[in-house]
Amino acid sequence: MWPPSQPSLWRRARGLFARGPAADGICLSRRHELLARLAPIGPLRTDRIALWPSDESLSITHTADFNRLLDNSVYDFSTDYMPNWAEIWPCGVLLAGIVAQDPGPLRGQRVLELGPGVGVTAVAALKAGADLTVADYDMGSLALTTLNALDQTGREPTAVHLNWRNPSREFFRIAGDGFPLVLGADLLYERKDVRPLLALLERIVLPGGELWLGESGREEAQRMVKALRWRKWRGPSDRYTSPLPDPNYGTFDTITVHRLRRPREGEDGKAS
Ligand SMILES: C[S@@+](CC[C@H](N)C(=O)[O-])C[C@H]1O[C@@H](n2cnc3c(N)ncnc32)[C@H](O)[C@@H]1O
Repeated sequence: MWPPSQPSLWRRARGLFARGPAADGICLSRRHELLARLAPIGPLRTDRIALWPSDESLSITHTADFNRLLDNSVYDFSTDYMPNWAEIWPCGVLLAGIVAQDPGPLRGQRVLELGPGVGVTAVAALKAGADLTVADYDMGSLALTTLNALDQTGREPTAVHLNWRNPSREFFRIAGDGFPLVLGADLLYERKDVRPLLALLERIVLPGGELWLGESGREEAQRMVKALRWRKWRGPSDRYTSPLPDPNYGTFDTITVHRLRRPREGEDGKAS
């Protein structure tokens, strides 16, 4: 049965013969500009990533040495900041696989991805035909997501700086009335993020719109899902075995993908 059960298969799943990015047709000066912005994180590498449960795969550029990057980073206690955005996380790969398997709901839609990391889910959303906005507090994540999007689709998402603890006017200007679909994978690590994210989601998911959230069982994520359900957001929560081992621990966690529909005004939520 898939996914593979041994951490040693990580390398096989990533593709041992990773090829370089397909830069044909892309404005090379734009690539150089993005690569220059990414220089502070050190060497990059490109791997072929299988998007289970679909048959698709993507070439994704990410940090060449995540452990070295973490070792060289200074933990910021005020923001709990670590450069987790620079690695490929199983949650984002699984959410990308779900999008690739069933692209219909994204085609032609305004879609927002929160916390895109290196952009695996974002690239799948663009390939599905979404009119995509990505939002992250790390400019490196926005640059790498844009690079991967350009290399894989020839298109850039709208990239906007956002700290969901303190969303900017510029973010709300771009969000407008909201989005019919918001994607997020592996977003919650800190309890203090639960309230601001909840408040943000209630502002930026249109009534009747959906949040697709991938999470690997952390208490903070489950707390947020519980709070959304209490607010009558309804929809399935499907459990999967992780398609890749966790980059930190090598474990294959259970990942749950929640597809929660925000109730329209006056709805009691039971019908959805
Ligand atoms: C663990 S990474 C997951 C990345 C990607 N979704 C994936 O699954 O591969 C968490 C992402 O959320 C972003 N993030 C964390 N805290 C944030 C905040 N307060 N505001 C905006 N983005 C944040 C990080 O920069 C990173 O891109």
